[in-house]
Amino acid sequence: MLTSSLLRLLLTRSAKPFTFEACPPDWQPDVTGLDRFGLYVHIPFCRTLCSFCPYCRELYTPEKAAAYLPALLQEIDRTGQAVTRQLVSPGLKTRGERHPVTSLYFGGGTPALMLGDLPVIISRLQQYFEITDGIGIELHPQDITPENLQQLRSAGITMVSLGLQSFDPQALARIGRSEDRFTERLGWVREAGFPVIDVDLIFAIPGQTPDSLRRDIALAFERGATQVSTYPFIDFTYADNRYQPLDNKTKRQLLAELANYCQELGLVRTSVWTFAQPGTGKYSSVTRDAFLGFGLSATSLLQRSFAINTFSLDGYIGRLGTGLSPTALKLTFSLRQRAAYFLFWSAYGLLIDNQRFATVIGQPLEKLYGVEMALAVLLGLLRRSGADYLLTSRAIQLYHDLEQLYTTAYIDKTWSTARQEAFPQRFTLS
Ligand SMILES: C[S@@+](CC[C@H](N)C(=O)[O-])C[C@H]1O[C@@H](n2cnc3c(N)ncnc32)[C@H](O)[C@@H]1O
Ligand code: SF4
Repeated sequence: MLTSSLLRLLLTRSAKPFTFEACPPDWQPDVTGLDRFGLYVHIPFCRTLCSFCPYCRELYTPEKAAAYLPALLQEIDRTGQAVTRQLVSPGLKTRGERHPVTSLYFGGGTPALMLGDLPVIISRLQQYFEITDGIGIELHPQDITPENLQQLRSAGITMVSLGLQSFDPQALARIGRSEDRFTERLGWVREAGFPVIDVDLIFAIPGQTPDSLRRDIALAFERGATQVSTYPFIDFTYADNRYQPLDNKTKRQLLAELANYCQELGLVRTSVWTFAQPGTGKYSSVTRDAFLGFGLSATSLLQRSFAINTFSLDGYIGRLGTGLSPTALKLTFSLRQRAAYFLFWSAYGLLIDNQRFATVIGQPLEKLYGVEMALAVLLGLLRRSGADYLLTSRAIQLYHDLEQLYTTAYIDKTWSTARQEAFPQRFTLS
């Protein structure tokens, strides 16, 4: 079994750990050098806090949401103005022109708890950014009502991700959720005419079988999903799960069964854990070369750095109230660390795009990883497709293990640290 240190050593060819430092309060993201990136907005509020969920979330009250909105708009202004200033220098664009961005995703938490505020947030972002490929939002099943869906369409939302998790009442009960007219709700989503409809499913909940998972997938697509995301159930150290996920070997077998079934249905595998109807758009908030995040706990991936906003609601509102940055931690990448990060997320999307690598990293892929790429082809993990590389099914199975390893070694540790202190001094991922 690969350890996280060995993985880092292999990809970055360095024993140097990832070290996050406290971010100076006057920090501003620098997007120079990035030709395109995505936007993410975090809305942290939830009606109840699910025991299995690792994300940064807060119990909803109207007062908290009312205090969050001006802080969020202030962060958008602060970053938007900095990006506009950066546009002036390269001679590429004229002053006042908006920066093109691929997409905007609202995640949470439960973004629909601020449904009435979404048009204001979107139009504030559009003062600084031109969104070319659509706007997406995560929806909790309770938020899927004909009225809400109409409001989302009017706000310009084109992609929805529905957190159903399963159609099986017993599996849902084991993660503290319940089935509430899911097929009817999916019908409403289809009728509302969203071009991209993702359904989130969790597998490896005790009691689930290949048959029950096949039923989940079949139902999702029958009722109008254009994509399903099948996430392996992960037990985060700070979660409060009554039932533990099934073991890793069973998880691997279940994923293989799911992939075979999706292939039989004529679906396309669009990432290690997503399957889609051919010719449909992708719902994917993480597999971006670069992105700017806004809101509590939001992250930004830039050309040479990775930044994490505070997880403390008071800390977030307090910093922005005085015109300062809500970013708590910043990692400055070495060239190889940034390249490794690019490769890691490209591999999740099953394609390593040679041209994108050169554009984002500033060096040709073969110059930095020529030996590793050739070796991976020889070992049957990658195959060439023109100038690019595609993951083989063997590599996809391996990646499934790797992604879970990354989640426990890196994400769990980072989020645990960020949950404990609003503005930590520094911490290291070894
Ligand atoms: C931010 S969450 C959910 C959005 C929305 N609040 C909801 O509950 O539907 C995004 C997705 O992450 C997945 N997820 C959350 N916790 C997980 C865990 N412990 N293991 C695997 N997947 C998880 C779920 O599929 C969930 O729909
Ligand atoms: S799963 Fe969704 S509703 Fe539950 S706590 Fe997490 S973000 Fe909130």
